[in-house]
Amino acid sequence: MAVSRRDFTRLLAVGGSSAFLAKPAFAQQAQALEALGFSAAPLPRTPTEPDEKFWSEVRSRFLMPRDLAFLNAANLCPTSLPAIETMEKNLRHYEVNPSPEVRAVLLRAREDSRQLLADAMRVTPEEIVLTRNTTEGNNFVSNGLALGPGDEIVVWADNHPSNLGAWTTKAKRFGFSVVTVPVLPTHPGTQGYVDLFAKAFTPRTKLVAISHVSSNSGDLLPAKEICAMARERGVLSLIDGAQAFGVMDLDLGSMQPDFYTGSMHKWPCGPKETGMFYLNKAVHEKIHPSVIGVYGGAVGISKTFEAEGQRDDASIAAVAEALRFQGSIGRAVIETRARSLANHLITELGTLNGVKMWTHTDPDRHAAIVIFQPGSLDPRKLVAALAEKEKIVVTGRSNAQDRPGIRLAPHFYNTMADVDRTVGAIKRYLANGV
Ligand SMILES: Cc1ncc(COP(=O)(O)O)c(C=O)c1O
Repeated sequence: MAVSRRDFTRLLAVGGSSAFLAKPAFAQQAQALEALGFSAAPLPRTPTEPDEKFWSEVRSRFLMPRDLAFLNAANLCPTSLPAIETMEKNLRHYEVNPSPEVRAVLLRAREDSRQLLADAMRVTPEEIVLTRNTTEGNNFVSNGLALGPGDEIVVWADNHPSNLGAWTTKAKRFGFSVVTVPVLPTHPGTQGYVDLFAKAFTPRTKLVAISHVSSNSGDLLPAKEICAMARERGVLSLIDGAQAFGVMDLDLGSMQPDFYTGSMHKWPCGPKETGMFYLNKAVHEKIHPSVIGVYGGAVGISKTFEAEGQRDDASIAAVAEALRFQGSIGRAVIETRARSLANHLITELGTLNGVKMWTHTDPDRHAAIVIFQPGSLDPRKLVAALAEKEKIVVTGRSNAQDRPGIRLAPHFYNTMADVDRTVGAIKRYLANGV
């Protein structure tokens, strides 16, 4: 159901400043949401073969209007409604009673968030730090290791600036050197990627820093194999999971990276400005915290790495609810769904004249990011037309020197109708121009 501007104004009015008393406000708000076709109620049990009806139920747990096709998960995701409600409740509870007791409740809930993160990634809470985002986690590694002259770091040229420019900037300051592994024109397969990084290692290499999924090509890297290859050579590994965590069913216990970073506000659909940083217990003695302060976490490395002073406790506590929501659907189910939406896009766009697919079409070589060049169309104009005329939100790669075009990033809140509508619109613009 489409939600009009008037409906949204009504919604906002219900949650407005006069409604500060928690219970009546939430009851009213829940009713207004239900009337608009949204729901924060627990989902029905995930069917063995989830159909479009089930995914439409999932869609109703997000506040986006139904006629908006949001295919931009790689940038920033909508927060799920159960997490929004928990955040709001947490905030109101504290603001109406700003006592140490209420704060203590929120701090305990922060530990639930840590436990659920550990469960989701099959590791221990002692290895989890609740950060602000992937950027912060990546920088905690490049700031915190004792590196100096004679040491080498191997990075991938396709990394995000927080895992690329961050290394070269700190190399200048601390005196280590950075070896940059180039971007290949196409995904070379598991062994191809392992060999590409292995070739760059020397006896001086101390760490390899890669992205699990590239935000520039969609390539899914064989992270487990690269971590194993690094470990055999006594090299540490940092995996940037910004484009994998929350959409792939991760098993860090089996991958065994030394460091793994992610953002709750991307694919996990959690509160904004919350993130996670995994530090394998094998490396806790090798890394120093970048920020020294108070209010650390309760267990393991979070006691020192999370002592960053006052934080937004209400949001950090609500990380748990976002994880519960995805967990109630099933992480493997979410991964299958997002991949099937992406594969459908790849297949259908592949039939259009002029489309050049930058993302490898083999389902084992990508996750849920699809990047392509739309013939001779100007990506910037196409992105604007899709947003303004079609209500389809995508990212343009118009400034990119290489692989220019459009990035589509579908997720579990998208319907097949969203992706079909997107393919239809692109087909029309390819035929008629923008
Ligand atoms: C691979 C990768 N790493 C890190 C980031 C930064 O994420 P954040 O802004 O949440 O720190 C992004 C953002 O798009 C990304 O694609």
